[in-house]
Amino acid sequence: MIYLDAINFGSKILKQNDIISYSLDSELILANILNSTREKILTSLDKKIAKQTFNKFKKQINRRKLNEPVAYIINKKFFWKYEFYVNKNVLIPRPDTEIIIEEVLKITKEKTTKKLLDVGTGSGCLIISILNERPNFYGKAIDISKKALNVAKYNAKMHHLENKISFINIDIDKFNDNKYDLIISNPPYINRNNLMRLEDNVKLFEPHLALEAGVDGLREIKKVIKKSKNLLKKNGKLIFEIGINQLNKSKNILTKNGFYINKVSKDISSIPRVIVCTKL
Ligand SMILES: C[S@@+](CC[C@H](N)C(=O)[O-])C[C@H]1O[C@@H](n2cnc3c(N)ncnc32)[C@H](O)[C@@H]1O
Repeated sequence: MIYLDAINFGSKILKQNDIISYSLDSELILANILNSTREKILTSLDKKIAKQTFNKFKKQINRRKLNEPVAYIINKKFFWKYEFYVNKNVLIPRPDTEIIIEEVLKITKEKTTKKLLDVGTGSGCLIISILNERPNFYGKAIDISKKALNVAKYNAKMHHLENKISFINIDIDKFNDNKYDLIISNPPYINRNNLMRLEDNVKLFEPHLALEAGVDGLREIKKVIKKSKNLLKKNGKLIFEIGINQLNKSKNILTKNGFYINKVSKDISSIPRVIVCTKL
């Protein structure tokens, strides 16, 4: 059997199971098993595949056919400019979240020193990407999930940033510390009723701790804003992600807690996605 046969085999099974990205997924899964890239295997389609390798491939195709996201199967996700290790204990980083990084880079200079806090770090994708761009930044990453924090620590090591980030397993509600220049967060913001309406690949596989935030979806956003009021230096900035229809309520909570709203950034579907605000 050659690579092309394996890819066709995988694509056929995925297509039969209504996986829309059947060819791409089959190629990505094979490339990962061969420790190669999709581009490389597509230029070596006539190469022979060992039986053991093919059996491993079949097992992973069977996981994908049940809707498990490719990122969890291959344990990798590309975010911003970097690759991150991911597993079922962390949210798969989303392109929309990159807006937080864009905004941080816009409001800070390359050589400045800033103390940064990442609330709900998950895979660590945000703080690690920012520290890669801003070499004099340092900070803390907190998460209520110990298992998520282990993934973030692993990624920090992979990016040689383990000495610049400390990791704390704590609920933001209980976190008290010295003052920060910047706080970033992509908190859970799905309301309980909408959780069951999410696509299977999300609701059946991604950690609910990373998604669900009470009846209005604002439970964690409220906590982040209230705690940031105490954790930020005067004129410090909070940059955080919100869900659909959460802009007005988030603005109200911010104003009540003494924040000035600098900017609301929209995602590629023109939905308000990231708020940049200043503690007055
Ligand atoms: C939406 S995920 C974001 C993960 C990552 N920052 C990203 O953008 O891909 C939210 C994260 O917040 C964590 N979390 C949820 N509630 C929390 C709380 N009260 N305090 C600290 N972390 C919390 C979850 O465990 C999860 O890892």
